[in-house]
Amino acid sequence: MIDAKTKLCCVIGNPIAQSLSPQLHNNLYKVMGLNFAFLAFQVSDVEHAITGFKALNIVGISVTIPHKLEVMKYLDDIDETAKSIGAVNTIVNKEGKLMGTNTDWLGAVKALERKTRLAGKNIALLGAGGAARAVAYGLIKNRANVSIFNRSLEKAYELKNIFNLAGAYSLGDIDKIAEADIIINTTSIGMIPNDKMAPISEDCLNSKQIVFDIIHTPTETQLIKYAKKEKATVIYGYEMLLFGAAEQFELYTGKKAPIKLMEKILKGIK
Ligand code: ATR
Repeated sequence: MIDAKTKLCCVIGNPIAQSLSPQLHNNLYKVMGLNFAFLAFQVSDVEHAITGFKALNIVGISVTIPHKLEVMKYLDDIDETAKSIGAVNTIVNKEGKLMGTNTDWLGAVKALERKTRLAGKNIALLGAGGAARAVAYGLIKNRANVSIFNRSLEKAYELKNIFNLAGAYSLGDIDKIAEADIIINTTSIGMIPNDKMAPISEDCLNSKQIVFDIIHTPTETQLIKYAKKEKATVIYGYEMLLFGAAEQFELYTGKKAPIKLMEKILKGIK
């Protein structure tokens, strides 16, 4: 029941219709009896949107593509994590001040930790964009041995230097990818409407590996299909979303996130 005491959270992006956040968070508020509401806004003018959110005392703002970098210019403070990653996906209103942080890395780490320890593992990280930066940050923080594989070698080297990674290679370096314990796809290859494509060939995969595709639409990406065929352990993109959103829920409401319930809701929405 929305009333004059309802606290409002939202997600901004462009486009935004694909976002699962409103359904997920509103379902949680309902089940947990919290007087909160969560909306999605398609935003092109980020500066004015942020000014408006501040004036209206919106309590939490999730940020998605393409605003994770631009939004940084308009916040009162940004924590060290978001600064290191170079992107903000979460804004918390602390007594009228908008504070930026990043939960993407934690979503990836927690999804991985359900299946494996990270310290000392050889990881092939596919992609060198914004998502790769957040994942690389989380992996390094957990003492994994990370190599980047990307179409543009220049961008791969850039990321290698920023996070002091083990190596930078082209996406076609099949032999090197095949040596990895864990393969993580952060490229957009495989996302709808290109869901027949995979970033690497099936030849790189084997049953001892863990294959994590951060793409969540579709759930069963071509890479996940290849991995299952080779009997590798798989981690789905929605699992990263789940743990990232759980962190946001806790930051916005101050309540502990019920992971099992969230996972059930997410599976129901998808
Ligand atoms: P995000 O914020 O989701 O990471 P991004 O910063 O645009 O998005 O990064 C997209 C990543 O997918 C990049 O690593 C990109 O490779 P390049 O650096 O070479 O551009 C990769 N990517 C996207 N489409 C690709 C394609 N068709 N083939 C190979 N790599 C692709």
